[in-house]
Amino acid sequence: MTNEQYYDMIRPYEDALNLMMARLEVFNHSMYDRAHQKPIHNIQSRIKKKQSIEDKLVRGGRAPSVSSAKDYLQDIAGIRVICYFVRDVELLMKNLKSQSELIVIKEKDYINHPKPNGYRSYHIVLGVPVCYLDSQEYYPVEIQIRTLGMDFWASMEHRICYKRERDDKEEIQKVLLRYAAQLKEMEDDFEQYNDLRELPQR
Ligand code: GTP
Ligand code: MG
Repeated sequence: MTNEQYYDMIRPYEDALNLMMARLEVFNHSMYDRAHQKPIHNIQSRIKKKQSIEDKLVRGGRAPSVSSAKDYLQDIAGIRVICYFVRDVELLMKNLKSQSELIVIKEKDYINHPKPNGYRSYHIVLGVPVCYLDSQEYYPVEIQIRTLGMDFWASMEHRICYKRERDDKEEIQKVLLRYAAQLKEMEDDFEQYNDLRELPQR
């Protein structure tokens, strides 16, 4: 794929991403009654780079072309939402799923069903309608929703070993699982303290 083909291809994905970002901002300030209580700590977003798109297609045995990218990749537009508590993640995903214009294309709940390595996060691929003057088309946006603790773990694990072979793999795996359990315990405690805290604030 040429640079020009790449930039033409990603334009509607950027539009879909921006529409989703705006929607998430609205959820963030409206989800709870009191304005100072927001579910989201921060949001990151990215459009997959040309090289990453081509690499992923080739890894999957596909031609690194625009048409196979459109057909096979659902994470060209990606958003990562970092929340405070698991409860925030659950409420956010419930709200997202109840939006009638959005289509749920794929959903993975690695929070209630963590990956064997300890990875936790909630993933959803949504079809977002992008309207142009005379047409409307759905574009997939992959959203990963997780807590601060899950994000800390995933960032470290990614740095240390995601999709990489290591000699000390077994030991690292044990340590990662232990840390995942410790972080969960810590987060559960924080959530309890949050429930118990005396109101009003400020
Ligand atoms: P990809 O081909 O990597 O997109 O995987 P998939 O199509 O099987 O989807 P899945 O929902 O499992 O993973 C999508 C994304 O979640 C990855 O690109 C990572 O950003 C993240 N992810 C999934 N598993 C792990 C993990 O074990 N560790 C970390 N750090 N991130 C993960
Ligand atoms: Mg991916």
